[in-house]
Amino acid sequence: MTSDVEPENVQDQSPKQDTGLAHRHLLGLEGWSRGDIGRVLDTAVQFREVLDRPIRSVPSLRGVTVVNLFYEPSTRTRISFELAEKRLSADVVNFSSSGSSISKGETLRDTARNIEAMKIDMVIIRHGSAGAPSFLTRCVDAVVINAGDGAHEHPTQALLDALTIREQFGRIEGLRISIIGDIMHSRVARSNLHALTTLGADVTICGPASLLPVHLDRLLGEGARGRVRVTTCLDEALDGCDVAMALRIQMERQGRSLFPSVREYHEQFGIRMEHMEAHRDLIVMHPGPVNRGVELATDVVDHERALILNQVTNGVAVRMSVLYLMADGTKRHA
Ligand code: CP
Repeated sequence: MTSDVEPENVQDQSPKQDTGLAHRHLLGLEGWSRGDIGRVLDTAVQFREVLDRPIRSVPSLRGVTVVNLFYEPSTRTRISFELAEKRLSADVVNFSSSGSSISKGETLRDTARNIEAMKIDMVIIRHGSAGAPSFLTRCVDAVVINAGDGAHEHPTQALLDALTIREQFGRIEGLRISIIGDIMHSRVARSNLHALTTLGADVTICGPASLLPVHLDRLLGEGARGRVRVTTCLDEALDGCDVAMALRIQMERQGRSLFPSVREYHEQFGIRMEHMEAHRDLIVMHPGPVNRGVELATDVVDHERALILNQVTNGVAVRMSVLYLMADGTKRHA
């Protein structure tokens, strides 16, 4: 199969040939090439067109069974994966830790092996522990897709962010993108750092010193190091910036307060109307859920240059693309 999936091919029911992705699982974007990320985005564009049609389903994953294994709360990622699976005509099973045998002491390994014994082809996992998806690949034969693991990575979020940026600007190469907020605890920041620098953007990370990673160089591949700068000054981060990506302050991961108060955080790092007025071309993004009045002033959340809901719409297309391309790695297609 070529990298361009025509809409007619998207509807093709015959078993697919090798899609050419270098990875059987999607555990993170670290190590993903520009070609593989581009293939996911190009395929997602085709699925965006499918989603705009009156009949929004295609039979591409008919007979493939996918389990959504969510050990942490989620609104966007969970609904969007489930929608993507159903739009592709997969058989879908939903699992959440509450109400399951986890409360009786069952381990992740045993839960996964029991689920796989029911003939599952793909597992989508969100987990509070970094590395849980990688661990799962050693327990089961199914294709594993990371829907967010601890503070490690959230690859499909970064892919949908990249699609949204590319849709807006027609490119990512050469753009100046600032990621603002709780970088240290953010899996979204990590996946975006890998994806955006691989795609040729210049990235600034900005936040209180206490929320910036101590060893940034360890996070980045060699090619990315020259493309990332760090600042604790919001004005510096917004100066000449094309896209400001604000991140949620993750009170639940901090354990202790790493900044004086939410009000002070908003005053120093919150994007407000005065910033939108001073930077007339600035595009604002946020992965959600947004703490209104903290990372973004409430009128910025609803601003016409805030692409937050476009990100959500693109999430379904990106996840359809990931599922479609990675289904080739299931035994069913082997
Ligand atoms: N962006 C994101 O991961 O949102 P959810 O936690 O609602 O899935």
